[in-house]
Amino acid sequence: MDIIPPDLVVMRSQAWSDYELLDSGNGRKLERYGPYTIARPAPQAVWQPALEENRWKEAHAAYQAAPGESGGRWVINQPGLPGEWEMGYKGLKFHVHVGASRHIGVFPEQAVHWDWMQGLIQKVRRSIHVLNLFGYSGIASLAATQAGARVSHVDASRKSIGMARENQALSGLEDRPIRWIVDDALKFTLREGRRRAAYEGIILDPPKFGRGPKGEVWEFFDLFPRLLQACRAVLSAQPLFVVITAYAIQASALSLYYSLEETMQGLGGETSCGELALVEKSAGRLLSTAIFARWEATGI
Ligand SMILES: C[S@@+](CC[C@H](N)C(=O)[O-])C[C@H]1O[C@@H](n2cnc3c(N)ncnc32)[C@H](O)[C@@H]1O
Repeated sequence: MDIIPPDLVVMRSQAWSDYELLDSGNGRKLERYGPYTIARPAPQAVWQPALEENRWKEAHAAYQAAPGESGGRWVINQPGLPGEWEMGYKGLKFHVHVGASRHIGVFPEQAVHWDWMQGLIQKVRRSIHVLNLFGYSGIASLAATQAGARVSHVDASRKSIGMARENQALSGLEDRPIRWIVDDALKFTLREGRRRAAYEGIILDPPKFGRGPKGEVWEFFDLFPRLLQACRAVLSAQPLFVVITAYAIQASALSLYYSLEETMQGLGGETSCGELALVEKSAGRLLSTAIFARWEATGI
């Protein structure tokens, strides 16, 4: 059998003005979010920083990871740092904050997916319903609805859903059709299958480990294949796109690629895969942050 292997691509967004990766190195990254700079762990940055030490010390806040895989705390270096502040991307507005975890409310490298998805939704000029699983602060949901889609946004955390709704209001998209659902991603998708729901687009941002609102355990390697099968069952007869992004898991983009190819077999589209990266301002290096695979309908 002649199987053509996929090309792995590195995707990076060049359309941000409110965000910059200023520097990276020594397992950390120095970033600018609007007017504030923060330093956070970045295990992939196994090289030396290009900027002087004092530029890093001037960061408004720094996240110190605890030994081991998870946990840590923010150290505020500049008293002027507000609890949360506003940022924007192409007409979308959202809050970012240094709070309970190292995540601050946005994954800037995912902007390439938002642009891609919006392009597809606008191109087809038909009614598109998008399912956003593990939707977090909702920026992908807002991007989809900004382009004209109806969205069902699922997250286990009431707090994340609250953040996402706030971002909807901030972006002036309150009148857009977004259904906000606090539920376990797998349970919800299986239930949607039984109800014969149909989605043209699916966004998945599964963490390595998580919990549903009733304590349901999400473990990527145990449950991802089942989740993809459940997603297949809720795809409409005319699917438009599926995108999977994964962080901090011991898997290659090829794993996502082949599982997505298998899921989308016979549906008339193409799959690509690779890494999402941030371009460093200091030395131009590409800092890899996530792996992805995505499928889009062809001939639309
Ligand atoms: C921070 S986001 C994206 C994370 C990113 N992919 C990563 O691994 O860092 C993960 C989101 O998934 C949600 N989540 C975790 N377990 C879940 C589950 N079982 N069902 C639905 N959402 C879940 C969390 O509440 C969170 O908002």
